[in-house]
Amino acid sequence: MATQTATAPKSPYDRIGGMPTLRRITDRFYDLMETEPAYAELRAMHAADLAPMRTSLPLFLAGWSGGPREWWEANPGKCMVSLHGPFAINRETAGQWAEAMRRAIADAAIADHEIAAALADTLSQMALGMAKG
Ligand code: HEM
Repeated sequence: MATQTATAPKSPYDRIGGMPTLRRITDRFYDLMETEPAYAELRAMHAADLAPMRTSLPLFLAGWSGGPREWWEANPGKCMVSLHGPFAINRETAGQWAEAMRRAIADAAIADHEIAAALADTLSQMALGMAKG
């Protein structure tokens, strides 16, 4: 049986702090979305009940960052980008998503500052790239 060496690179998922940190980030993200008037437009695009998203987004981010792939197993063939096709995402709402996520990541105080910055930058770019106008 293969044993992991001490030098094996850690996945981004592990460097972030795994599921507990991803849950902290996404709960803070949806708390900000629910309470900050600056994100009202983004909030209005979502369902009244954000509980399913509070479950789904951390599971998506887990698999995406190299951790457990539960979201993919539960959603075979589902594409995160395509599922946003029906939403009228513009520069403003994409910017709100990116800013709320950046704040949520900062508030999670991830010890590994390099991975925290990479996570914030990558998710911001993904969100801004999803704007259709
Ligand atoms: C660009 C700005 C974005 C907007 C406006 C947006 C909006 C939405 C909306 C309205 C939903 C449906 C959920 C509901 O109705 O409550 C959703 C679902 C989802 N979004 Fe986004 N989103 C954005 C960016 C992103 C990004 C960058 C990611 C991933 C990094 C992401 C991941 C997801 C996931 C995983 C789901 C749920 C999929 C599922 O499990 O069914 N979204 N999004």
